[in-house]
Amino acid sequence: MSNLVIQPGHVLRGVARVPGDKSISHRAVMLGALADGASHIEGFLPGGDCMATLQCMRELGIEIHINGGGSFVMAGIQPSYSLSLTIRGKGLRGLQQPAAPLNCVRSGTTMRLLAGVLAGQTFESVLTGEVQLLRRPMRRITEPLRAMGASIDDVDGKAPLTIRGRTLHGFDHSLTVASAQVKSAILLAGLFAEGKTVVRQPGPARDHTERMLAAMGANISTNGLDVILSPLSSSLAPLSLTVPGDISSAAFPLVAALLVAESEITLEGIGINPTRTGLLDVLQAMGANITLMALREQGGEPVADVTVRGSRLTGTEIGGDTVVRMIDEFPVLAVAATQAHGATVVRDARELRVKETDRIATVAEELTKLGANITPQPDGFVVEGPTSLQGSRVNSHGDHRLGMALAVAGLVAEDEVLIENAGCIADSFPGFVEVMTRLGGKVKLI
Ligand code: S3P
Repeated sequence: MSNLVIQPGHVLRGVARVPGDKSISHRAVMLGALADGASHIEGFLPGGDCMATLQCMRELGIEIHINGGGSFVMAGIQPSYSLSLTIRGKGLRGLQQPAAPLNCVRSGTTMRLLAGVLAGQTFESVLTGEVQLLRRPMRRITEPLRAMGASIDDVDGKAPLTIRGRTLHGFDHSLTVASAQVKSAILLAGLFAEGKTVVRQPGPARDHTERMLAAMGANISTNGLDVILSPLSSSLAPLSLTVPGDISSAAFPLVAALLVAESEITLEGIGINPTRTGLLDVLQAMGANITLMALREQGGEPVADVTVRGSRLTGTEIGGDTVVRMIDEFPVLAVAATQAHGATVVRDARELRVKETDRIATVAEELTKLGANITPQPDGFVVEGPTSLQGSRVNSHGDHRLGMALAVAGLVAEDEVLIENAGCIADSFPGFVEVMTRLGGKVKLI
């Protein structure tokens, strides 16, 4: 189990990139497998979560070539953090029954999205993973997929899931949580369904699945927050795309540069899909000096170079639709709030309780060890700032984003911070140590 040691007090400067977007990388492999012909993906994220998806698709009979990008390992932080893939799609009906249960490791996106794909197959398959994943709620996908005609056995609403594909029929779903994973599972199942599939969202969950399906020629449209998928009129066209840098990974160096006085960094090629930029809006409202430059489109997604300068922040209130637009960014937002003047109040964020960990509880527990003034609430937390954080030994709880948020806290602490159980950082951000080091941070894996 690796530990990360952070030495505070070093200004961050320079230009860097972060690895490819995790959500888009997952979808690229799954949708590429269902396309008719070879898809080419540059900038695929070789993090543990996306490698789990890649491995599952191979076990479903899909040939995937890794064209360069160097060697990688599933755990630990690796030097190579961008892969170029060729996925030999076999069309909508080309998947084969896997020989063994499919291991989603720690990845909720792998399990929930794949469940949608597998619901439409003619064979039986099992989705499983590590203990952390087997604790996460799955009724949110099993219920709508059953309503479409799938037969799924679960264990008290949790995985392992045994999925027996059936002929599916389209359905009109109103989501109770604004979740892109649930929306995507239903849309993926909808590809195999007779009739129209409608997903009505209570808030603007990330729309990468919709964008990619549209680019592949699916009959998909939106009406406000409703998404409508009609049966395909022809096979899905292969993808050719370069995955943008993940704004959820960029969030860590970005907040670090805001908090360390005199810092100035530029992160190139970051995805700025409006369903993902809640953190930028919130930080700007807190007084952050953030500039977006060279706005362009890449792989059907808006992208920019993001420049950030050390800034004086003030507390703010976050709730409503903004929450879903920054759902993965609350651990690092909490760190920013410890340095902001006044109270930062987060509400409407109950979903944080069912992420890789209960992020309301774990963020509060670990930041309290560093001396932060943070109070958990049923649906969020309140942070009073600014506080000077002290050096301490903290723990990621096996949650990659908590691990990286604590590393950012370490950069502004009074003394050395040691993060136990930091190998999980590579689930979403292999190369985190290299990127932070390149920018001048003193971050070391021991
Ligand atoms: C994701 C959606 C989000 C997010 C997760 C990735 C996706 O989960 O937290 O990291 O790729 O669809 P929910 O849709 O459950 O909020």
